Amino acid sequence: MKILISGGTVVNAVGPIAADVLIDGETIQGLCAPGSATTTAWRENADRVIDATGQLVIPGAIDGHTHMEMPFGGTQSADTFETGTRAAAFGGTTTIIDFAIQSKGTSLREGLDQWHAKAQGNCAIDYGFHMIVSDVNEVSLKEMDVLIDEGVTSFKLFMAYPGVFYSTDGEILQAMQRASGNGGTIMMHAENGIAIDVLVAQALSRGETDPRFHGATRPSILEGEATHRAIQLARVAGAPVYFVHLSASEALAEVVTARDRGQNVFAETCPQYLFLSDEDLARDGFEGAKYVCSPPLRAREHQAALWRGLRTDDLSVVSTDHCPFCFKEQKELGRGDFSKIPNGLPGVEHRVDLIYQGVVKGEISLGRWVEIVATTPAKMFGLYPTKGVIAPGADADVVVYDPNARHTLSAASHHMDVDYSVYEGLDVPGRATTVLSRGAVVVDQDQYVGTPGAGRFLTRGLNGLLR
Ligand code: URP
Ligand code: ZN
Ligand code: ZN
Repeated sequence: MKILISGGTVVNAVGPIAADVLIDGETIQGLCAPGSATTTAWRENADRVIDATGQLVIPGAIDGHTHMEMPFGGTQSADTFETGTRAAAFGGTTTIIDFAIQSKGTSLREGLDQWHAKAQGNCAIDYGFHMIVSDVNEVSLKEMDVLIDEGVTSFKLFMAYPGVFYSTDGEILQAMQRASGNGGTIMMHAENGIAIDVLVAQALSRGETDPRFHGATRPSILEGEATHRAIQLARVAGAPVYFVHLSASEALAEVVTARDRGQNVFAETCPQYLFLSDEDLARDGFEGAKYVCSPPLRAREHQAALWRGLRTDDLSVVSTDHCPFCFKEQKELGRGDFSKIPNGLPGVEHRVDLIYQGVVKGEISLGRWVEIVATTPAKMFGLYPTKGVIAPGADADVVVYDPNARHTLSAASHHMDVDYSVYEGLDVPGRATTVLSRGAVVVDQDQYVGTPGAGRFLTRGLNGLLR
């Protein structure tokens, strides 16, 4: 199948240019000056011409942080790989990297096999895995090397959730030492979980059970402290570290200091920390449960620091941490005890649109938008230049994006399999109109037209951003 995308403005991380895009099969063949002889020839031979006049043409976005079908607190996240990846495609995301989980007492292999079984044959777009290491021991440390050979090249460790995912500083150091030898990237959930558990118990004993106490018991200082500690451990080990879901200015300041020193320290933030706040967590009644995630939503003052970090590249990626739980049946588990509210928010469908609002508001440039949602995740997670760029030889993961199309984010119209939206009623300009995954149109003007299960597992390389 030959496709010509004509008349649009191609936006790569370097910025916008007027160009036509030639696609042959699963691959981008080239970019051409609009109206050139090559374009005319392609137009004659193309099986399909997509008119992108007045629209942006961007690389398919990469969401490096999702949790489909993830067990948590006696339930599991509501989106399956099928529903979650289809929703992602509607929003212009053509690759997700989900977190396979090693439960305590099991091997990395068992966890990874489970995730392959969940995803294989069910994804609408391409997918890869990171590995959550919950049990650092001699066997799992050796397994890290094997997983890297299989294309699972990043490992998440937790400084939070004692008894579940938590690793001690000594265990973290050992995993980092292993990563410094095998080229893996350690991803860190940086919150001081030991201190948080004390604050949670104290709050509950005072009868403070509402959702807002989830935030009050996880103060930003304890994210800053854990971030500092993880950076020092990475320094000792000589390993790169990538902070997931960074939410607080204290944590960002630690990242800035480390990067200024030349350390291989990277961080992502998520749309919820840029657009929502602790005021949402404090909504009336049990409504705040919709906004419970960890780290928690912060005071609005943190948002300016996060946008600044995105401009300076101290925050180099925005991922969603998509981890949806239905309000009615799942968030309900924590009524009367905030510590039992499943942690996580839906968002995989809306990241590209929400970060585009940063362009609209003048926070970031068009090129930086693409870099944050597509190009840098591709480089960080070993997918570049197959993904994350519109260039000859790259996978034809392409999004035609109408910067002027307005739409309203709502549970009534979103495609995620969850009964509420944290952005309910938010009206935004910008929307993916046509989405291609490896040369196949999967979303066309609001319709899913892909082949279910066509998404492929991606064998990822090593972090391409180490300095
Ligand atoms: O609340 C969150 N973030 N849930 C997902 C698990 C994690 O820590 O990323
Ligand atoms: Zn986490
Ligand atoms: Zn997560």
